[in-house]
Amino acid sequence: MNIRRSLFQAAQAVPRTLLKHVAVLSLGLSTALAAQAEDKTVFKAGHASLQQWLMPEVPYPEENVPTDARVELGKMLFFDTRLSGDGNMSCATCHSPLYGWSDGLKTARGFQSKVLGRATPTIYNTAYQSIQMWDGRKKTLEDQALGPMVSSDEMNIGVDGALAAVKSNAEYQALFENAYPGQGVTGETLSMAIASFERTVVSNNSRFDQWVKGNKKALTKREINGFKLFVDPEKGNCAVCHSAPNFTDDSFHNIGLASFDNPQADMGRYAIKPIRILKGAFKAPTVREIAHTAPYFHDGSAATLEDVVEHYAQGGASKSNLSPNIKKLNLNDKEKADLVAFMKALSSEEQAFTLPVLPN
Ligand code: HEC
Ligand code: HEC
Repeated sequence: MNIRRSLFQAAQAVPRTLLKHVAVLSLGLSTALAAQAEDKTVFKAGHASLQQWLMPEVPYPEENVPTDARVELGKMLFFDTRLSGDGNMSCATCHSPLYGWSDGLKTARGFQSKVLGRATPTIYNTAYQSIQMWDGRKKTLEDQALGPMVSSDEMNIGVDGALAAVKSNAEYQALFENAYPGQGVTGETLSMAIASFERTVVSNNSRFDQWVKGNKKALTKREINGFKLFVDPEKGNCAVCHSAPNFTDDSFHNIGLASFDNPQADMGRYAIKPIRILKGAFKAPTVREIAHTAPYFHDGSAATLEDVVEHYAQGGASKSNLSPNIKKLNLNDKEKADLVAFMKALSSEEQAFTLPVLPN
């Protein structure tokens, strides 16, 4: 990473990332280069330099320790269509385990099948994100959870409506009392339960993770080469934004999607934070479990991972307000295929998921 590039990043980063880059800048050139040489990656299963890519324990807020009772309750609420205005939409309608906790659609279908403006992100590893939504307008999972119930485009029931639906059910009342003793059925306990469930939807044991932990056979040569290209600043340069350990820097970038040239283009982060560099910038999603969550990008414009890689190889389609880290890439066809193979190795085998039994 060169210093100029980190300056640009600092300008578009969220405060936490900003601090990190400011720290690099203040080290001075020689120290920064020395530090870089030290963390040079060695592409051998189990090597110390790879350990930064392992997911740490799932973080949670002090006031919402994820007990079994909370997780089980949250799982029911996540799948319960009674939390919607017309009784046929739950969180899982759009964030379905069948589609990697997304919906397989270009952009989401909302209340009465209205086609919405943005794609449904996966909830895999949202527990690790310091900021939520494509434009970062929510901070925590607790902050986010009531939003879809309130939105007239989504579940369209409102907080009072959702609480009334839960409170009219004796079994739910008892489950809330068990999960949050003495705290009642409130917007707060409702969102805390849902967030507790979301914190169990974690990807941390893909074949890539097994290789990082030392299993030589977990990745093929091709996939390892794909990982090399992914982190190499002179080749894919992907890890500059899709960084360790969750393959995201939790920050916002304009990657030059063709839709940004539309007169009514979605401005992304700029609508929340009106700084020029954030026009058309969206949060970098995790690349974990990516094989399960096609199509890709906030506008669903890439149908396959091959399309995604081609987009980056061309240095983006729209060139206006483009991130300085998006430029034409020097990749041949084999290298592009290796990148795709690597990303697929970040996805785990389909796992059985047990649906909750909902209160009557
Ligand atoms: C109609 C489809 C739909 C429903 C129903 C829905 N979501 Fe979403 N969800 C989306 C879309 C679309 C986004 C991205 C919107 C944006 O960024 O503007 C999103 C974003 C999120 C995010 C942020 C993910 C990230 O990586 O930033 C979380 C967490 C989430 N939803 C959880 C939930 C929960 C919990 C519920 C139920 C209470 C729910 N969603 C209901 C479509 C849906
Ligand atoms: C400048 C930062 C940046 C670089 C460099 C970058 N990405 Fe991204 N990536 C993003 C952002 C931001 C998005 C979401 C953009 C949007 O939808 O508007 C994204 C989206 C994606 C997606 C789709 C995720 C989803 O759930 O829809 C994939 C896959 C991906 N990138 C892979 C790569 C690969 C492979 C490379 C290297 C060849 C790469 N990225 C380089 C920032 C970056």
